[in-house]
Amino acid sequence: MTDKTFSERRRKLIKSGLGMLASMIALPQLAISQTNKNTLIKKAIPSTGESIPVVGLGTSRTFDASQQVEQIKLLPVLEAFFANGGSLIDSSPMYGAAQETVGRLLQKLDKPETLFSATKVWIEGKQAGIDQMQQSMDLWGIDSFDLMQIHNLKDWQSHLETLREWKEQGKIRYIGITTSHNRFHEELVDIMNRESLDFVQFTYNIDNRTSEKSLLPIAFDKGIAVLVNRPFQRGDLFRRVKGKELPDWAGELGINSWGQYFLKFAVSHPAVTCAIPATSKVKHMVDNMQAGYGELPDTATRQRMIKYLQKI
Ligand SMILES: NC(=O)c1ccc[n+]([C@@H]2O[C@H](COP(=O)([O-])OP(=O)(O)OC[C@H]3O[C@@H](n4cnc5c(N)ncnc54)[C@H](OP(=O)(O)O)[C@@H]3O)[C@@H](O)[C@H]2O)c1
Repeated sequence: MTDKTFSERRRKLIKSGLGMLASMIALPQLAISQTNKNTLIKKAIPSTGESIPVVGLGTSRTFDASQQVEQIKLLPVLEAFFANGGSLIDSSPMYGAAQETVGRLLQKLDKPETLFSATKVWIEGKQAGIDQMQQSMDLWGIDSFDLMQIHNLKDWQSHLETLREWKEQGKIRYIGITTSHNRFHEELVDIMNRESLDFVQFTYNIDNRTSEKSLLPIAFDKGIAVLVNRPFQRGDLFRRVKGKELPDWAGELGINSWGQYFLKFAVSHPAVTCAIPATSKVKHMVDNMQAGYGELPDTATRQRMIKYLQKI
């Protein structure tokens, strides 16, 4: 088989959602045997019951590649995402050229059918928001988004009105709002209590559990899907465990790396729907996607995971 036929076959499989098979054909260097044995874990979006895989993909910094050649370097990363069952990609106009990169690469992959597109509006003013969201559609090369979120609560009253109109018109399927700052938690709680939202996005990881106090319980009670940003605390978690061994019992949970330890912890919270780690490396992408297979830790194991990390 020529290289061209090889890659055409792989793209067709990725597009049709048979990504795992595609990875067997074209990415033999990846350790997929374990993921093959296990089941892809999905969680339901409470407002509709639609299920999505618990590990998605963030694009802040990692996909901000302004040169076309740099963007193409990320193609195998995105291929590995879809080949290993990925669906939700999160971006924002705040992330430089990230949306352009995503759009260019999705075109190369012939827009996989499993894509769940999520971006944000991040600007002051209703009309400016409309123009920005329209531009994002052009950059992604799509004519509707699955999820549109208001980034960091910026001018949320103006945009929420537009998002409701766009949802009615079928330009977006879900409405969300995001933050990664503790100082916005109180205001976000207030919005969650007063407004009707499908998704909320904030930071949650094993070392930063502030959102357990109010955001996660409210999301759970009100039936709002939760996207977890910074599941690795921007990579700080890896620096913290550098040179440290995983506990002996990690293997029983299907955890083979620190990345999987952190991700399984984040997505096993009952209120969490999906975590969106960012990476620029195929190896890390495959590692992260494996966290979305098999089993998730129960409450007792989650406590054990916290204690182990505190001890080392
Ligand atoms: N307010 C908001 O709406 C908001 C705020 C913050 C973030 N977000 C979203 O959340 C996403 C995730 O947050 P984040 O990008 O700030 O940080 P993050 O996902 O917590 O960490 C990303 C870092 O972890 C490294 N990494 C990823 N997988 C790894 C692995 N398996 N092993 C070792 N290192 C690994 C990456 O480096 P490599 O490239 O070397 O893999 C990168 O430096 C963002 O990309 C964005 O989409 C939204």
